Amino acid sequence: MPEVIPIGADHAGVDLKARLVHELRSLGYEPLDLGTTGTASVDYPDFAHAVAGRVERNDARRGVLLCGTGLGMSYAANRHSGVRGAVVWNDDIARLSRQHNDANILILPARFVSA
Ligand code: RB5
Repeated sequence: MPEVIPIGADHAGVDLKARLVHELRSLGYEPLDLGTTGTASVDYPDFAHAVAGRVERNDARRGVLLCGTGLGMSYAANRHSGVRGAVVWNDDIARLSRQHNDANILILPARFVSA
């Protein structure tokens, strides 16, 4: 059974989220897209809490969040017990966030990374 990975973004991360949903599927995961779905301005904490809440309740082992800087999502997600959200902007930081910090939510600064 494929691992379900909840993924959420605000309007700044919605385009990159769509790419990642596709990429996760092609890698054999089952992305659970929790929104947002369009470019209309939304409040990033709504999506941070939706994804982080699933990790906190062990409904999912890990998740993905995107906003413009990654910072707002990290502030909100890391309020959840058992959540270790890491703002990641390159391969090395991604690897180290797993090896050294046991990160369980990947947070991408969508306005500062390329697809
Ligand atoms: C939205 O414009 C932007 O403020 C948001 O995506 C994020 O960067 C907040 O941390």
